[in-house]
Amino acid sequence: MRAVGAPDDDWLDSAYQDLTLITQLDGDDSRWAQLRASGPGAGRPTSSSTQPLLMAWMLEALNFQPSHRVLEIGTGTGYNAALLTHCFGAAHVTTVDVDESLVQRARCALDAAGYHPSVHTHDGTRGFPANAPYDRIIATCSFPRVPLAWLTQTTPGGLILCHLYTDFDAGGLVLLTVADDHSASGPFLPEYGAFMPCRGSVALDTVAPDTLALLRQALRDPDDGDTTPTRLTANDLTGEYFPLFAALRLTDTALHWFQPEAAPAMQTWLLGRDGSWAYQTYTDDGLVSVQGGRRRLWTEMEYAHDEWIAAGSPQRHQIGLTVTPDGTHHIWIDAPHSSRSWSLAAIDEDD
Ligand SMILES: C[S@@+](CC[C@H](N)C(=O)[O-])C[C@H]1O[C@@H](n2cnc3c(N)ncnc32)[C@H](O)[C@@H]1O
Repeated sequence: MRAVGAPDDDWLDSAYQDLTLITQLDGDDSRWAQLRASGPGAGRPTSSSTQPLLMAWMLEALNFQPSHRVLEIGTGTGYNAALLTHCFGAAHVTTVDVDESLVQRARCALDAAGYHPSVHTHDGTRGFPANAPYDRIIATCSFPRVPLAWLTQTTPGGLILCHLYTDFDAGGLVLLTVADDHSASGPFLPEYGAFMPCRGSVALDTVAPDTLALLRQALRDPDDGDTTPTRLTANDLTGEYFPLFAALRLTDTALHWFQPEAAPAMQTWLLGRDGSWAYQTYTDDGLVSVQGGRRRLWTEMEYAHDEWIAAGSPQRHQIGLTVTPDGTHHIWIDAPHSSRSWSLAAIDEDD
């Protein structure tokens, strides 16, 4: 990554592209100055200005009314908070970020632009009780489960929009309507939208494992794995609709592309948090999967694909989520009480 700043020729053009702009690496603001001095380098993105088109989709999906009170989780640059404040007024907008340095920067930027929403350093997992209740909650970082505080801090009939984090990235933005009993239910949006994983009370690496480290571990595995013919192709895993189903069906499984030096083409890998691995490759005998470790990830994926076909190949918006007041997460196809539904495993935050 290259740190781009105001004196650079491409700075303004970069800022006005319809792209996500990384604004912090490794939770450390000093990395920017370092990269500025040393030239391009690597790091884990921990804050960004969201792609403008994605922000527009999300704001439209939330169907705001002028009287609505909104909580944004993930202030970042403050850009989205500025849009919200412009539309609904400072008294209606609260935004929180877990990172104090980002909050200070966003507050300055918002002040300079003439917007004064309520901006706080706070872990959004807990919502922000002081300004509750809200008619809308929008999260611009990703959570593996919808925090219960959001359900209790949203008025019945209100909406919550967030990206549900899964290791298999399928860009699942879910739009939940909160009921009188503070359960919440609704479909995934048809649009793909992904955010960086949340940090704070739960470490970033716990929410989102380092897939490169899992790949290195798999490559060192003395077990060569089982080789079996497969019909599931790499395209199946990247199609328009199956990936969201797969992401919600196969827990703790990430997708990765990798081309070993000796291999003629890119291989599609599945990497489990428990060290299980699988990849698909072409041999003289045709397309095969090679699998090692405790789980048989490719077989699980084939099974999920069969299920998806049997369910009528549901599109993204036909898949939905219900969160009950005790935090159970049910995934369903077509309707909340359909026979095609399953629960996501509870996450033990002490893990
Ligand atoms: C993609 S950026 C947000 C973009 C922002 N809305 C904008 O308009 O620029 C995600 C932000 O979420 C923040 N974040 C991560 N975990 C959080 C948490 N638990 N609570 C609140 N903010 C969090 C990060 O510090 C980061 O700034």
